[in-house]
Amino acid sequence: MRVAVAGGTGLVGRYTVEALERTGHDAVVISRSHGVDLLTGDGLDEALDGVDAVIDVTNTLEIDPAAARAFFDSATGNLLEAEQRAGVGHHVVLSIVGVDLVEGNGHYAGKRRQEELVENGPVPSTIQRATQFHEFAGMVASWTRQGDTATLPPLLVQPVAAADVAQVLAEVAVGPAQGRAPDLAGPEPQDLIDMARRTLAAQGESIRLIPSWGGMPFTVEMAGEVLLPGPDARIAPTTFDAWLEQRRTEAGSALASAQAG
Ligand SMILES: NC(=O)c1ccc[n+]([C@@H]2O[C@H](COP(=O)([O-])OP(=O)(O)OC[C@H]3O[C@@H](n4cnc5c(N)ncnc54)[C@H](OP(=O)(O)O)[C@@H]3O)[C@@H](O)[C@H]2O)c1
Repeated sequence: MRVAVAGGTGLVGRYTVEALERTGHDAVVISRSHGVDLLTGDGLDEALDGVDAVIDVTNTLEIDPAAARAFFDSATGNLLEAEQRAGVGHHVVLSIVGVDLVEGNGHYAGKRRQEELVENGPVPSTIQRATQFHEFAGMVASWTRQGDTATLPPLLVQPVAAADVAQVLAEVAVGPAQGRAPDLAGPEPQDLIDMARRTLAAQGESIRLIPSWGGMPFTVEMAGEVLLPGPDARIAPTTFDAWLEQRRTEAGSALASAQAG
């Protein structure tokens, strides 16, 4: 099948393109760096020519709820209209577990709007929600870091490898539309602050981590079990420990080749 990946240059998007190609499908990348802008629609009709299914893993950094909703209104709206014109048979969108339970987070407000557009849109669809990626703790620490200190919300999460999410998205896209697919999560619950500490240690860094709900797009509504998957969730295999070990090995190989070069 020919499958377009909107956001195919991003974190989960790159793995999704790899997963499609590994399983014998043609992948078309949709992103601004590949000449397609979802906000204006430029290049979209050409990119969808002959495409059977679309996987949407685009992202916005907007944290204001109105701005995040406006991004998805335009980007998802333009994408779905172009898919209808091109006769695309299946639209798969990646969303977030618990997105309907947290009112005060701007990104989640945007993702809820994206889900609504897909659910009520003109193309048969699957909404695949996933938990936070294994990279998430390191990302939050990098957003809030000031010198040798970073502030993180004390979240309970059940993180998943972005490569495992990509594998599932690639499988789902070439099958029938499911409406809402079961949640996707990693194998074990984790404390976000402990994950950040171990991620930084694997990178050879040690900074002070301060647990706080202040100054970030996270709210106390996200505490407790809100971000954990439902009881029927699909559980992906890669543990946080296995992912960290892989990161250490990659960092070691990069250092060895830099020293050799
Ligand atoms: N991070 C997590 O823990 C997590 C967990 C569950 C679900 N998710 C969801 O996963 C999705 C993907 O996240 P990610 O971290 O992989 O994203 P990312 O690395 O930030 O990548 C975003 C992608 O969107 C593309 N893009 C942005 N604006 C665009 C535009 N106007 N037109 C065309 N392409 C555009 C970017 O390419 P260009 O810049 O080249 O345009 C890039 O390929 C998000 O919707 C997020 O909510 C994330």
